[in-house]
Amino acid sequence: MPSTVLVTGGAGFIGSHTTVALQQAGYRVVVLDNLCNSSASVLERVERITGARPQFIHGDIRDTALLDELFAAHPVDAILHFAGLKAVGESTQKPLEYYDNNVHGSVNLLQAARRAAVQTFVFSSSATVYGDPQRLPLAEDHPRSATNPYGHSKLVVEDILESLYRAEPGWRLARLRYFNPVGAHPSGLIGEAPQGVPNNLMPYVAQVARGARTRLQVFGDDYDTPDGTGVRDYIHVMDLAQGHVAALRYCERQKQCLLSVNLGTGRGYSVLEMVRAFEKASGRPVPYDIVARRPGDIAACWADTNLAATTLGWRATLGIEDMCADAWRWESGREA
Ligand code: NAD
Ligand code: WQD
Repeated sequence: MPSTVLVTGGAGFIGSHTTVALQQAGYRVVVLDNLCNSSASVLERVERITGARPQFIHGDIRDTALLDELFAAHPVDAILHFAGLKAVGESTQKPLEYYDNNVHGSVNLLQAARRAAVQTFVFSSSATVYGDPQRLPLAEDHPRSATNPYGHSKLVVEDILESLYRAEPGWRLARLRYFNPVGAHPSGLIGEAPQGVPNNLMPYVAQVARGARTRLQVFGDDYDTPDGTGVRDYIHVMDLAQGHVAALRYCERQKQCLLSVNLGTGRGYSVLEMVRAFEKASGRPVPYDIVARRPGDIAACWADTNLAATTLGWRATLGIEDMCADAWRWESGREA
């Protein structure tokens, strides 16, 4: 019997790509998603890529009865927990919604997992937990801090997992700190589909290239970086998906573990470098204006990738050309 993995938020951007990678690695996948930021049609597209449709349960991680039914009906061996809200700006407007979804939702899921004796749990954390970097590259022992409710919710769940592990060491827990996930599956069938105005750079750039938006606003060119624009560690979502498979396999090999590990490439690119790479990949212009800094932004951040390489045996392999080409294949296939 192949192992069965519950993927919460599996209809979303990172969860859907990870579902593809899991199925291709031989896992059975059960997706739980309330579709608050995604569409069930993604699961059909996953089936077109992998030849197998993941089981789909439309529901919420905060629904205790539904979780108990789910664990009773499916032989879940491990949980990859992506479900949550992720917009930094919105989190400052709606803090209760963010803590409820991200913190209460995670606790509810962990409690249901415990009742079902599922003890392998991989959590989507974020490089946002490092706050404003004191040194680069960012290693996992860098001090953590948060300046907004979204980031704080990630910090709190990281700490909850730590407390849980101290109290009940039978758990196998991984806290994966993603840098900036971008790109799409190379088929062009699944990708990032933000609702409304994109908050993140790459989907915005892609929409400008497609003509759905007129100009990009570059948030500041006076940072202490080579060209003055912000520098980030962009990671292809398929590399990120493989990082999850590697983390899951690592947990499966352990009797017990509590891991915090960066998933990034170890290389930073500026906003203007990304704009130029996207123009090249798409053959389309991306006109932009330099505007004021976005409050809360940091100048630069990129990952120390050594721990991921030594513990998980995983490294990112795809570069910004792949990120932009795959993001463009997905974007250009969408409705105008
Ligand atoms: P996404 O919004 O595309 O996917 C999240 C999915 O979870 C969506 O399909 C949404 O419908 C679902 N969901 C939300 N709340 C739910 C709930 N209460 N119950 C059930 N389903 C729920 O986001 P993503 O980019 O795929 O992010 C996945 C995870 O990775 C999130 O936890 C996010 O905080 C984290 N993360 C994302 C990034 C990024 O830049 N995309 C970076 C670091 C960490
Ligand atoms: C990247 C760069 C912007 C948009 C956010 C969250 C973080 C994580 C990933 C979840 C920055 C610049 C952006 C635009 C711009 N998410 N930019 N014009 O801010 O590194 O991280 O997403 O965990 O928590 O904070 O990503 O894509 O928003 O910005 O100039 O329209 O692009 O200033 O330098 P960020 P981003």
